[in-house]
Formats: sequence, C-alpha cells, structure tokens
Amino acid sequence: MSHRVRKAAEKDIPTMLQLWDRVYQYDVSMESHFRWVLFEDAHKPSATTVLITNESDAILGFVSFVVVNNVGHLKALAVDGDQEDVATELLGIAEKSMQSEGATSVYVVKYTGNHYFFPGIDKRYTALLNFFLRNGYKETEETKDMYIELKNFSLDAQSFHKIETAAQKGIQIQKYTNDMFDVLQTFRSQTDNPTWFDHWDADKKPASGAFAALDGNQVVGFCEYKVSNEEGDFGPLEVLMDYRDKKIGSALLLKAMQAMQKLGAKQSTAKWVWPARLYESNGWLVDRTYAILEKQLKDINS
Ligand SMILES: CC(C)(COP(=O)(O)OP(=O)(O)OC[C@H]1O[C@@H](n2cnc3c(N)ncnc32)[C@H](O)[C@@H]1OP(=O)(O)O)[C@@H](O)C(=O)NCCC(=O)NCCS
Repeated sequence: MSHRVRKAAEKDIPTMLQLWDRVYQYDVSMESHFRWVLFEDAHKPSATTVLITNESDAILGFVSFVVVNNVGHLKALAVDGDQEDVATELLGIAEKSMQSEGATSVYVVKYTGNHYFFPGIDKRYTALLNFFLRNGYKETEETKDMYIELKNFSLDAQSFHKIETAAQKGIQIQKYTNDMFDVLQTFRSQTDNPTWFDHWDADKKPASGAFAALDGNQVVGFCEYKVSNEEGDFGPLEVLMDYRDKKIGSALLLKAMQAMQKLGAKQSTAKWVWPARLYESNGWLVDRTYAILEKQLKDINS
C-alpha cells in the first residue's frame, strides 16, 4: 500500500487525538493538552511532528520529536492498529532528523524542560516497550508516579528525626511568604532545573502552598503543593546540590504532607518522580512506573 509522509498541521489534531486515545489507554488526552505538547513546544528549534498517511490522507501514524542540547527526545509515537512497518518507518524518520539536528543520542522520553506527555513508557504498554527494545533502545532509568493516603497520616518518630536532622544542620523549614520572593530567584538560578519554576514569572509568586528550607536567609531547598477536591498534588521539589543528603528533601516533603492534610487532602500524588526512594522512605507507594529508554545514534546512517 502506498503512503505519504508529511508534517502534521493543526487541522490534523482531532484525528491524531483519536488515534492517540486508542493507543494510549492510560494517557487519554484533552485536545488543549494535546495541542500544547505537540504544537506549542517552546524549544528553539521547536518539536517536529511527522505523519504517515494513506493515499486518501487518512492518518496511519505519527511521531513527534525535539532536540535539546544535542540530545533527541521522542515525545510521541502512535500507530493505528498493528502496523509495525509504519512504526519502524516513523522511528527511522525521527532518528535521522534528530541526528541531522545534531543529536548523538535519543531518549524516549527524558525530561525535556518543556512540553511532553509522559516521562518514558508506562511499563504496561508492553508491545510498545518491546518495539523500542527491538529497535536498539535500552532501558536506562525508571521514573514513577507515587501516592500516599493522608487521612490518617501523622509524623512518626522517624519523620521527626528527619526534620530534626535538617534542623541540626542549621536548616529551618518555613512556610513560604511573599517577602522570600527575591531570595527565591537566587535559589532558582542555582537549581539543576530552573524551568520547573517558570510559572513564577506570570504569577510573581509560587503556588499557593510552598515551603522553603533556609540556611540563614538563603533558600537552599523548596517545594510546592496544591490541594483541590480533597486531592493533594506535590511538586516540584528541589534541594541545592551542596545541601543534599541531609534530609532536607524529606523534611520539605513531610511538612508539605502535613499542610496538605490540614487543607483537607485525603491523599496526595506526586507525578514523574525520581528518585522514588525519597518518597518510599517517607511512606509513599508506587502508582505507575515508566521506563526511560535511550539509544545512541552514532550507528545510524545519515
Ligand atoms: C531529590 C532531592 C530533592 C533529594 O533531596 P535530599 O535532601 O538529598 O533528600 P534526603 O536527604 O531527604 O533523602 C531522602 C531519601 O532519598 C534518597 N535519595 C536522595 N537522593 C537520591 C538519589 N539521587 N538517588 C537515590 N536515592 C536518593 C536518600 O538516600 C534518602 O534515603 P533514606 O531515607 O532511605 O536514607 C535532591 O536530590 C534534588 O533536589 N534533586 C534534583 C531535583 C529532583 O530530582 N527533585 C525531585 C523530583 S521528584
């Protein structure tokens, strides 16, 4: 059957979304979110989405990818039905294109600092996972969605000890107040992930719930949380490099758990976390597990 390859356009969104929802049953998407991920990527150069269609322009599959600092990220790959030849062709197009943009390796998908659907492949999509493994990808890391019941949560002796350990290192955990906003900018510029906090620019403040870890008047750790409809949502969380491994991350997490409970949250989730250990050692359980896949591109002929 002959088919065509072309760039995706806005008019393709409804059909692409239907295809997406058939393929990714655990990640059905709203149209606005779908558009945001695929067509509003703020990287320069931005993400590319390529379609394969049949002679009547019906979409057989699509792939979306972006190159950031010479690393390729495959943001989406969806194929109608069991058409491995279409998936293989799309993957080949994406890899060659990313290589020509300077990528030496490609992830499905690691943190791109920008818009993407999920961090890796949910391990329940076994056929998709196996497709990538057959095509030279290796699982390098896992990231997880975590959750915790907060209805009956209270700090136990171990939790008190962690907060105390941070305090003994001279670190005060304090609820965020607006007068911290300026020193927070210094913290942000020192983090590994400044884009996690981009939402501060529009609002001129963090999310309504936030804790800062302070060494004197310097912010060395920070976390945010929200509660709506009795559901807590924790993150982002970051501790500056020189201050890690002193239980500051745990102390921030535990304080946020108490605060979310006080605001009426019966449970909380934290999405796309790494390392899970931080959450597990504070009582959280795993909801979803994603495999982050990587392939070196040096062996592909450009
Ligand atoms: C993840 C992070 C917040 C941890 O902060 P921290 O103050 O060093 O954490 P803690 O000292 O409270 O450690 C808590 C537990 O997590 C474990 N842990 C922390 N960092 C870890 C890492 N990089 N890999 C594996 N385990 C880790 C600790 O060993 C400890 O385990 P234990 O309680 O069983 O002894 C910090 O490393 C960080 O800011 N990283 C970059 C941003 C990030 O990844 N944020 C989390 C996004 S979900």
